[in-house]
Amino acid sequence: MALAEFLESLNALAAQARDAFASADSADALEAARIAFLGAKSGHLRQVQKGLGKVDKADKPAAGKRFNEVKVLVESEFEQAQQRLAGEGGGREEASDRFDVTLPGETLRIGHLHPITQTIREMKDIMGRLGFTAVEGPEIEDDWHNFEALNIPLSHPARDPLENFYLASAAKASGENPLLLRSQTSTVQIRVMEQQVAETAAGESPPPVRIISLGRVYRPDTADATHYPMFHQIEGLLVDRGVTMADLKSVLRLFCQSYFGGEEVHVRFRPSFFPFTEPSVEVDMNWRDGQGNEGWMEMGGAGMVDPNVLRAVGYDPEEVTGFAFGLGVERICMRQHGITDIRALYQNDVRFLSQF
Ligand code: DAH
Repeated sequence: MALAEFLESLNALAAQARDAFASADSADALEAARIAFLGAKSGHLRQVQKGLGKVDKADKPAAGKRFNEVKVLVESEFEQAQQRLAGEGGGREEASDRFDVTLPGETLRIGHLHPITQTIREMKDIMGRLGFTAVEGPEIEDDWHNFEALNIPLSHPARDPLENFYLASAAKASGENPLLLRSQTSTVQIRVMEQQVAETAAGESPPPVRIISLGRVYRPDTADATHYPMFHQIEGLLVDRGVTMADLKSVLRLFCQSYFGGEEVHVRFRPSFFPFTEPSVEVDMNWRDGQGNEGWMEMGGAGMVDPNVLRAVGYDPEEVTGFAFGLGVERICMRQHGITDIRALYQNDVRFLSQF
């Protein structure tokens, strides 16, 4: 056989092998191609190698050399194809190696509601069961809603600029009715009753009111363990025919008992004064914490809505009476959790907050 003829069939075979390896799309297909071309007994290359013996004697060294080169080339192409397939299928294997399902997982840090938010939600829930609807009012208020309509006269110390966050520029602009960050949620009593009256047809009596309002109030107090310039109040208002102090006390007792749980909780009234209630009381609650500790805690103020307040918003004090109360949310929350410094609630230290 002439050298040229031998080389031609060798080259053709190399090209076929390259195609077969490159197009193999599975390990099995590649193995079949390997056996077909590189099989030791009857692979195509082996067949060509056998043909070497028939090459003219003078050309044999050149033919042999070329055969070896092509064989090395075909083998390396087979290896490349092998790696290519390992890369595709083996990729999955590697990924599953990386995820060791037997390792303990990373603990997820799940957030939760702030203790004040939890307290507020629980209070809304309890008062909702007693028939009180939760309403909201603005935190920026005017003089009328924060003071005037609540029967707080111009000369009252509660209006003192040192006791309130007046909005300086707004105060000038609105003259007689300056704006301030509300100092109490009692403002919402006025807003609700005004709205009921506005929605009542002329000559008709406005409907009864049974609301609570929970929200932020602001006073320029220096922060210490029991004071903070911003805190929360829960305000309650019930206006209807024949409402008495006894209703007020029952509602507050039920509220405290539901919140703190158990018949052991008692509420007491101490005479007090607020411009918007008459008579007015200070509300205390008796608490016990399973470790034998007990005491009276001041919760806030309450009383029968002053006839002047009812009149200011258009309710007839001859027709209806009402009770109102305003309690400190932080105090109740702190008592519940044994928190002794109000500032801890507002430092947003996760180590503290995550306990609740
Ligand atoms: N607004 C009062 C305060 O912030 C609390 C209060 C007292 C609210 C008596 C009331 C009430 O509704 O009847 O100190």
